[in-house]
Amino acid sequence: MMEEHRQYFRILFFIYLLFCSSQFTISQRLVNFISGVPTLWINKLTYTPILLERNTGLQFLYGFSCNFYPTECFLGISLVVYNSTAGETIYIEGGHLVWSANRDRPVKANATLQLGQDGNLVLADSDGTLVWSSNTTGKSVSGLNLTETGNLVLFDTTNHTVWQSFDHPTDCLLPGQNLVSVTAVTKSKLQQSVSADNSSQGLFSLTVLNGSWATYIDSDPPQYYYTSDNPNSPYWSFDGHILTALQYPPTSIAQYIQLGHDGHLRIYQLDNLENNMLGLNWKEVCDILTLSDCGYPMVCGRYIICANEGQCTCPVEVNFFRPFSERKPNLGGTELTPISCDSSQYHSLVELKNTAYFSFEFSHELNSSVFWIEGKNIEDCQRACLSNCSCKAAVYDLYLNMSLGGNCLLLNEVFSLMDVGVGTAFLKVQNSPNAPVIFPRQKMPFKVIIGCTLIGIILILSVCSALSKKRSEKRKAGDFLDLEPILPGILTRFSYNELKIITDDFSRKLGKGGFGSVYEGTLSNGTKIAVKHLDGVGQAKESFLTEVKTVGGIHHINLVKLIGYCPKKATGF
Ligand SMILES: *[C@@H]1O[C@H](CO)[C@@H](O)[C@H](O)[C@H]1NC(C)=O
Ligand SMILES: *[C@@H]1O[C@H](CO)[C@@H](O)[C@H](O)[C@H]1NC(C)=O
Ligand SMILES: *[C@@H]1O[C@H](CO)[C@@H](O)[C@H](O)[C@H]1NC(C)=O
Ligand SMILES: *[C@@H]1O[C@H](CO)[C@@H](O)[C@H](O)[C@H]1NC(C)=O
Repeated sequence: MMEEHRQYFRILFFIYLLFCSSQFTISQRLVNFISGVPTLWINKLTYTPILLERNTGLQFLYGFSCNFYPTECFLGISLVVYNSTAGETIYIEGGHLVWSANRDRPVKANATLQLGQDGNLVLADSDGTLVWSSNTTGKSVSGLNLTETGNLVLFDTTNHTVWQSFDHPTDCLLPGQNLVSVTAVTKSKLQQSVSADNSSQGLFSLTVLNGSWATYIDSDPPQYYYTSDNPNSPYWSFDGHILTALQYPPTSIAQYIQLGHDGHLRIYQLDNLENNMLGLNWKEVCDILTLSDCGYPMVCGRYIICANEGQCTCPVEVNFFRPFSERKPNLGGTELTPISCDSSQYHSLVELKNTAYFSFEFSHELNSSVFWIEGKNIEDCQRACLSNCSCKAAVYDLYLNMSLGGNCLLLNEVFSLMDVGVGTAFLKVQNSPNAPVIFPRQKMPFKVIIGCTLIGIILILSVCSALSKKRSEKRKAGDFLDLEPILPGILTRFSYNELKIITDDFSRKLGKGGFGSVYEGTLSNGTKIAVKHLDGVGQAKESFLTEVKTVGGIHHINLVKLIGYCPKKATGF
């Protein structure tokens, strides 16, 4: 919706520019060289051009451009079609800022850009706060130029480049632009934008290191998901240190390589200047990284398993994780109990068989990870992860010759896992005796709980009131609910008073199942639960224990889980 709104507003402004263009005093600003310093430009909310290459046609424009709802403006370089020859000024937006000075800190109307006498180019917001600067104070800057390849250059009195936007890429590489090795003086990398709507720097980056170029997701250490096995192509060249984007075919009008918000690296091309209401017709000509869908780190988000080219499922066979959203498992998930280094004696590893990890082979190839251990057996791998609290998971795979051991990768952060039939992943979990580790999924639709309850699955067994009613019978119920030996460590013991609060005094009855009624309740953390209240304790005992054993042992996405009980002795009856 937001995207549509923005497009709509861009169209309005396109029309606005068409008819009101005379308001723009851009003629003096179409110069490539600045003669007098200091020079000041003010953001006028619609396009505020600062530099254009020429007076007509498709070209790069350097200036402010704005989104609306909410209003946020970026100083940057975009491709536009510009025509001022017929007495009117028309911009058709190229659709994308190929570079931006302030991608993380949008500015408002009346923000200023100033090239000061000291040679520093400074962007300040309307309230005067410093947003960005070129850090070129004292470097004898004498002017500003926008080249025909889309490079913004600050040059000095001897015409040498002091600063250029090509050295500080955002998420795009233009033909002729280089990415140089991180070991070189100017370290450069491409950094993805958060989303189509949000140009803030995201987690994915592309960089050059150890003789190849590679993509990774930001983490400590970085987790690589691709390295260049095919260094050259018609679209780029690579000599081991410098990756250069090329124009291919040379007849295409314009082109750029973009690291997308999904981590894909794509080439976009413009073959003609035909346009529609939404701007120019850019087309995707190449998805460069030859990875399967499950090979991207965030395809399913954190802790979620990717299978069959993009199907996302939470690791359901264990009960330590939940997806952020049941309906959209691709948004990722989280641990139910966060790992706490203060109680590391309660850490254990949950084993996921036939589960691999996207960075496994790349960490090895790039020699980039200090958490890569070779020639280990699987127990050593598990031990290595358990012995360091920063380790959140270990991934293990045997060598082809199994007797030599295998490789072990330790992870400080867990992104999407891959169900590919090889490898073993171990996820670290927190088993604290104080915090119950088994909870129903928080976002589970309530009807699922009802449905499950009605087919006889118990959540919380409350026999307190049953026991209190039957007190006169003086049954030997003392050992009746001693569940600890059945399911050690995983059940929470509730008091009758707690259950009264949780169920709002047993006010919402969901139905009647075997040996008792079921009530709706809400835990203090918001989790919806069902509480089964046993009516006939005597005849219920056998079935109850059987039921508890069964339920305690079953963990399935569509079945609710037993999280606790309320014993007679805890109520003081
Ligand atoms: C920008 O400046 C103009 C004129 O000085 C003023 O009318 C307008 O309210 C200002 N806008 C903002 C957002 O500060
Ligand atoms: C853009 O993303 C950044 C980083 O995730 C976030 O802090 C910021 O609030 C987002 N901006 C908008 C307008 O959503
Ligand atoms: C990997 O890095 C280590 C330490 O930095 C170094 O000793 C080793 O030679 C490197 N191996 C390869 C294959 O580059
Ligand atoms: C644990 O891992 C961290 C990095 O995540 C590392 O800096 C630290 O040295 C490791 N600690 C031990 C005891 O190995």
